[in-house]
Amino acid sequence: MSTQTVDFTNTASMPAQRTLHEAEPCTIVIFGASGDLARRKLIPALFELSSCGSLARRIAIIGFARSKMTDDAFREAMTEAVRKYSESCAVDEEKLRAFAQAFAYVPGDYNNPEAFDRLTRRVEELDAQHHLDGNRIFYLATPPEVYPAVIDQLRDAHLQENPNGKSWTRLVVEKPFGRDLASARKLNKTVLDVFDESQVYRIDHYLGKDTVQNLAVLRFGNGIFEPLWNRNFIDSVQITAAENIGIETRASFYETAGALRDMIQSHVLQLMSLVAIEPPSAFDATAVRNEKIKVLQAIRPYTPELVARDVVRGQYGSGGVAGVYLPGYREEQGAAKNSATETYVAARVEIENWRWAGVPFYLRTGKRLTRRVTEIAIQFRRAPHMMFRGQEMGSNSLVLNIQPDEGISIMFHAKQPGQEMRLTRVAMDFSYQIAFGGGGRSAYATLLNDCMRGDATLFDRGDGVEAAWALVDPILQAWQSEKPDFPNYPAGSWGPREADTLLERDGRHWRKP
Ligand code: NDP
Ligand code: BG6
Repeated sequence: MSTQTVDFTNTASMPAQRTLHEAEPCTIVIFGASGDLARRKLIPALFELSSCGSLARRIAIIGFARSKMTDDAFREAMTEAVRKYSESCAVDEEKLRAFAQAFAYVPGDYNNPEAFDRLTRRVEELDAQHHLDGNRIFYLATPPEVYPAVIDQLRDAHLQENPNGKSWTRLVVEKPFGRDLASARKLNKTVLDVFDESQVYRIDHYLGKDTVQNLAVLRFGNGIFEPLWNRNFIDSVQITAAENIGIETRASFYETAGALRDMIQSHVLQLMSLVAIEPPSAFDATAVRNEKIKVLQAIRPYTPELVARDVVRGQYGSGGVAGVYLPGYREEQGAAKNSATETYVAARVEIENWRWAGVPFYLRTGKRLTRRVTEIAIQFRRAPHMMFRGQEMGSNSLVLNIQPDEGISIMFHAKQPGQEMRLTRVAMDFSYQIAFGGGGRSAYATLLNDCMRGDATLFDRGDGVEAAWALVDPILQAWQSEKPDFPNYPAGSWGPREADTLLERDGRHWRKP
């Protein structure tokens, strides 16, 4: 059947894009400020907020790291980072100069109390100088093994406390939050021995993407989808988070992580939870997170037998796209020559509750796949009876395009023009670009703004992270005892053959994104 496109977007009636509220004055301390995340994501996101008037006018941004730098050198490096990595706002040099005035830098070791004394003095000085009301955010952007040292030092310097009755202090923790259930529990304990859960913002940047939040709007902001959102109408769900890039410069991290820890435990399970949750009573931190955790807890736990049957892992070998050679994972700089790290995972997941019993969720993620696409495809059941004789009838699907062509498409059948009754598959497309003219915020801008406003809805709670690890832990354990036959898919392909078999066994196929 051919696919045609019917555009039903009515741009005139669309509301203006989500606006972010100006946050309260505060000091933001970034630990690991000399690193990749600060440079590529955090500072450009803060500039984005500043440019759009969503950052408080009174603010201090203090970088802390071991690298020796003066305030000026840090300011220069961060200004350059904004020019290079700013995602959605055109860089206005005058605004950038004004923004850069907020920067300060404290060099020091993460274990050194004297360095934290200097940091405390700097925080207090800038707070008094700019009237920041004692509000503070501490952002952990170092490698995770450094988090406990920083948290201990913050406690010893009394920086976790609120300096006055009206101020707030918050801690942002980057992913990965642990590397298995035991380490996540340990990290939660370390964090919660010093901070209260209400102060902690565990970040998963997928939740900051507009299209991910729109999943909740689609389901609970409309009356027409939710009645169909269950086992009576839905046949299966496919969630794809495909990347065409390899591991780039991150081999030292990736060799100890792999796709299951890096993508499934966090981003992909977040997407799945939002597809599967029961309607929360409000879009707020408590209600949403309570419902999300119920989904994770209802997932059928993996036994070693289920892992062998329902989970596929892969690693890319060399390949090519359009005649360009792409090296295999083991050839990447920093990867072991006999590495057993998976760069691809596909899994069949079952949620054991009344809404989803018998509806398989197929998840897949991988690096060096054919193209970059993150999408959720809801496959509906076929119509019960085909009255148009001689016509092949597929089922309907609803596809949420998370990135890069953000939007939603509904696939259904239509009559082809002409004398004969011939059915063809067509799509109704909603495009963010057409409706809102693009220009969405970067995920980090949204999340930083939420943190400054004290809204934790789009952040993970301690029990949520642990529930996600509890699900993937048995997979990690089962894989430990078996040496995988890697590489098993060429760079530039859609992954290993076994991932296709996983669906074919159930009489289904992966959607071609
Ligand atoms: P980097 O390796 O660039 O590290 C950040 C900084 O941490 C370094 O510049 C370094 O600064 C400091 N550091 C402290 N201890 C160590 C150590 N033992 N080894 C290396 N650096 C150390 O990491 P990223 O910026 O990429 O990531 C920071 C955190 O954010 C990590 O937890 C990562 O998993 C997470 N993250 C990163 C993403 C990204 O796109 N980069 C995406 C999602 C999460 P100095 O030596 O000056 O002290
Ligand atoms: C990060 C992972 O959390 O997400 C990376 O560590 C991955 O490996 C990235 O590339 C994908 O994010 P996005 O927003 O580009 O889909």
